[in-house]
Amino acid sequence: MKIYPLFRALLFRLDPERAHQLTLSAVRLAGDIRPVGTLLRIIYQVPARPVQAFGLRFSNPIGLAAGYDKDGLGWRGLASLGFGHIEVGTVTPKPQPGNPQPRLFRLPDEKALINRMGFPGRGAEFVKQQLSRPRQKSLVLGVNIGKNKDTPLETAVEDYLFLLKVFIEQADYLTINVSSPNTVGLRQLQEKQALDHLLQQLYLERDKLTQPATHKVPVIVKLSPDLTDAQLDDALDVILANRMDGVIATNTTLSRDGMSTPITREEGGLSGKPLFERSLAMVKKIYLRTSGKLPVIGVGGIADAAGVQRMMDAGAILVQLYTGLVYEGPGLVKSILQELRK
Ligand code: FNR
Repeated sequence: MKIYPLFRALLFRLDPERAHQLTLSAVRLAGDIRPVGTLLRIIYQVPARPVQAFGLRFSNPIGLAAGYDKDGLGWRGLASLGFGHIEVGTVTPKPQPGNPQPRLFRLPDEKALINRMGFPGRGAEFVKQQLSRPRQKSLVLGVNIGKNKDTPLETAVEDYLFLLKVFIEQADYLTINVSSPNTVGLRQLQEKQALDHLLQQLYLERDKLTQPATHKVPVIVKLSPDLTDAQLDDALDVILANRMDGVIATNTTLSRDGMSTPITREEGGLSGKPLFERSLAMVKKIYLRTSGKLPVIGVGGIADAAGVQRMMDAGAILVQLYTGLVYEGPGLVKSILQELRK
């Protein structure tokens, strides 16, 4: 008997952000109490084929996308649910409150969410402390970084350089978030000149901070699904020219194509099922335009094994999910991995 639908019915009676906070607190607690963590691993972790990417070994291809654990509170418990990697963040240099509530909305019929969170978080120092806790060796931990709301675009580079320095030791990889729709102007950093400037500086700084013989922390750029073909081409040129290690496709979309219910009028980024084909198309384009030279993590609307398989067939080396976890529950990674093994 499946019990998550029952839990979900209860959770969905709460305000979405409150439900998320409760879930995250429970997961954090589970990760902190050793026997509970062990029990969760026994229940949820299944053998899978590991993936080698970015010079790292992922115990399976499925990761938790950024935004679920912004402050690094629950990553240890979340790892027990079977994810091969967890991406914490988006982390900003200083703490900030994010946008006024309500700022997260459910669209149950579409298995989607709309959010305009705006990077609420406790800032880099707090997250650094959270990430210093003991870690399962097999877990790959990524940190997704972004600028503070009150940092002007002209000096945004400073925020990213600061965060690179803070997390270079702890993170297995870093994601440069230039694609969230909820921080005014952020997505302009995907434009050719701005992106070139940002990535150049990040490349130089990472080199400066890395000892000659040590492994360089991979830097991955997360892109918006709303880029036009020309904008995507420009971004990819710059990403390749600056020798970035990969891309994540995609963040949430501002598009509401084919959707008409009143809630879809809420401002913010749409995630979940309606995003899938859009993200998939973007993964395909990136794979073709870079002749498979740039590793791609596919994300957007994945909620089953067929979705993972289609992303992989389109060229993704790894995948991530967020909204699927909200609708399908903690057994999702296990059920996908079991299905993929068949
Ligand atoms: C997100 N996402 C996100 N992405 C990011 O790079 N930084 C962030 O802080 C957030 N925050 C965030 C909050 C909420 C509530 C949601 C639903 C999503 C985007 C997320 O990582 C992912 O790219 C998209 O949600 C698409 O994947 P799913 O959710 O359709 O599997």
